[in-house]
Amino acid sequence: MNPSPNTEYPELAGDLSEILLTTEQIQERVHELGQQISLDYAGKNPILVGVLKGVLFFIADLLRAITIPVEVDFMAVASYSAEARDKGLVRLVKDLEVPITDRHVLFVEDVVDTGLTLNYLLQTLRMHKPASLEVCTLFSKHKLRLIDLKLKYIGFELPDRFVVGYGLDHRERYRNLPFVGLLKPQVLRNK
Ligand code: IMP
Repeated sequence: MNPSPNTEYPELAGDLSEILLTTEQIQERVHELGQQISLDYAGKNPILVGVLKGVLFFIADLLRAITIPVEVDFMAVASYSAEARDKGLVRLVKDLEVPITDRHVLFVEDVVDTGLTLNYLLQTLRMHKPASLEVCTLFSKHKLRLIDLKLKYIGFELPDRFVVGYGLDHRERYRNLPFVGLLKPQVLRNK
């Protein structure tokens, strides 16, 4: 059952101006992606690779929607500085534990906007010589893209707006909302 945002999450949902995607809409799309991935990767024993923390709920739901044998591993990154982040430079603070050489790797992202971070991480993964490397992102903000990347699976195209919920945060808040929404301007101003 879809929780009523304002009654179930009064302290958080009150900061939202609009709900863009309901829990049902997200779950339905994630299920479709899982079915498609199960067909495309049948017999390939793929490994899903996620970058913490925004991808947490998406990868957990996606894994459960995949019906073939599948593995999962995580990386974690930190920005050196705001300037470095603008160039897509990030510091790896947790590397993969499972070797990915000759494996079919599906890189799972929460949101791709400029594509700079993703591009940097894909380059890092390619050095391990996987059998294949594709990307599955829940959200894509195409308008902001600076690098042309092939995204094999896209959950939803989003407008150029800052969204929170379903793993996505603003100052570490709102990740636990099961739906996705826009923050009120006065809340965002404190960004
Ligand atoms: P990119 O390198 O510009 O593609 O950065 C993508 C990263 O920025 C994502 O993995 C998120 O961590 C973060 N991000 C981008 N847009 C949003 C948003 O609307 N809400 C929360 N985080 C976002």
